[in-house]
Amino acid sequence: MWLLFLILSPSLALFTREPPPPLVTSRATVQERWLNVDLNHFDASNTDTFPMRYYYNDEFVQVNNSNIVIFVGGEWAIHPGWVSAGLAYELGNRTSSAVIYTEHRYYGQTRPSSTTSLAELRFLNVDQALGDLAQFIEHVKSDAFEDGKFRNASVGLVGCSYAGSMATWMRLAYPHLVDVAFSDSGPLYAQEDFPEYLEVITESLVRQGSQACVDTISLSISTMVELLKSDAGAREVSSLFNTCTEIRPNVSLDISTFFWYGITETFAELVQYADPGDITAACQTITNSAISTVPMERLAAWVTNRTWTQPCIEPRYEEVVRKHTNLSYDAPDATMRLWTYQTCVEYGWYQTTSSTRQPFLSTVPLEYFHQMCKDFFSNDTNVELLRSGIKRTNLLFGGMRLPDHVLSVAGGIDPWSPMGPNITHSTPLAPVYFIPDASHCMAVGSTAPRDVELLREAQQSILDNMTLKMTGQPEVSSAFTFMITPILLLANSLIIFV
Ligand SMILES: *[C@@H]1O[C@H](CO)[C@@H](O)[C@H](O)[C@H]1NC(C)=O
Ligand SMILES: *[C@@H]1O[C@H](CO)[C@@H](O)[C@H](O)[C@H]1NC(C)=O
Repeated sequence: MWLLFLILSPSLALFTREPPPPLVTSRATVQERWLNVDLNHFDASNTDTFPMRYYYNDEFVQVNNSNIVIFVGGEWAIHPGWVSAGLAYELGNRTSSAVIYTEHRYYGQTRPSSTTSLAELRFLNVDQALGDLAQFIEHVKSDAFEDGKFRNASVGLVGCSYAGSMATWMRLAYPHLVDVAFSDSGPLYAQEDFPEYLEVITESLVRQGSQACVDTISLSISTMVELLKSDAGAREVSSLFNTCTEIRPNVSLDISTFFWYGITETFAELVQYADPGDITAACQTITNSAISTVPMERLAAWVTNRTWTQPCIEPRYEEVVRKHTNLSYDAPDATMRLWTYQTCVEYGWYQTTSSTRQPFLSTVPLEYFHQMCKDFFSNDTNVELLRSGIKRTNLLFGGMRLPDHVLSVAGGIDPWSPMGPNITHSTPLAPVYFIPDASHCMAVGSTAPRDVELLREAQQSILDNMTLKMTGQPEVSSAFTFMITPILLLANSLIIFV
């Protein structure tokens, strides 16, 4: 039954997706529960509250000395798989913890307002979401929760992607409530234009695929850009790539919509959560001259075969705007609307084609996203607001400077990695593990062996470090015969029994 959660809606755009849950073997009963939290944590005169959803697994809880492990929810609806398997679950087992998965305000079923109108989104930001987590932790440690069983508990947070950033920032904002945090693939530095994203995608295609793969893409994109200047050419591209309607030549917002949803996001979807072998297989198709000797036809064959591009690729910008301005929480693009709002006022992180070190030419420029912020929300959601929001985010959280008792993982093929800490930001109290072949969020999965070098060793070391921080008891483990990076020497030297 848990396998159901592996089925992801293709209508959800890429960066609002829950990391693919680990395979669950536990038979523990997971409870869905709710806690009322404050709508505005920064105004005591506002006493409004809303119900925040969480999943609760008590299979490792004991009569005395139990702890708390929270798998932090990000910009997605939560599912119970992540409290029944994965690294947070394994940490819960080692530390006799309640394993809890919290849902981020506005996402999933945690809805502080009746619609997602711009006025109602004013309480959607990370400061408020961290406030929810703080109030939640205080509650779990109070006498009101399970007869005070967790009054003395240590708290460990685990998160990946934006939820990993939140885990790091919780330790910074509320150090008295969080003993140790682990962030896998969490971006920490807000940045308007994020061309590095497609650079890492390109490097990953070369590293695990081939240079010929990138060359094929490059040739195809040049051809397509030329064809999209005429009616006949646009018809040809539209038919080859199975677009929902014919692409209008020379309409730049439509052309960017086609390249963003149909091409760059399709590669992002391949690489961001890639399992070993996925990229290699994709590049074999893209370079296979038995399919066609025309590069663009091979690219089209691969693109149109992805679940991501079904039932057709949307090339109309107005249609994208229409779908993202539906104010219902149940609209298919509601999650994307919410996350886009956060990017427009807090982070930027627009995955543009501004770099020359990628094969997509300049098909998805920064202006495309500036326009989206205005058209999804209002003319006031403009580039000035975006820039001041980004400045504020970096001022509040300090960018790449890591607070102590935070562990981080950077994956070599994770396109988000340029916005997160790497080994140069590692400190003895905040080690960063670099895993060359890891994709986004791979390290929060279970420690079951996967065909990724150094992943398991890093996971074991993270579990050992966190267990020590939470219980003061080193767990005997064999992982320490292995060195992952020179930085880990520093991390390991902190461990008393080494
Ligand atoms: C919490 O610590 C106090 C003092 O050490 C102890 O008396 C109490 O039993 C502990 N409570 C739990 C629930 O572990
Ligand atoms: C908005 O989305 C909801 C839920 O899917 C749907 O019922 C409604 O018809 C949509 N409204 C508009 C104006 O498209």
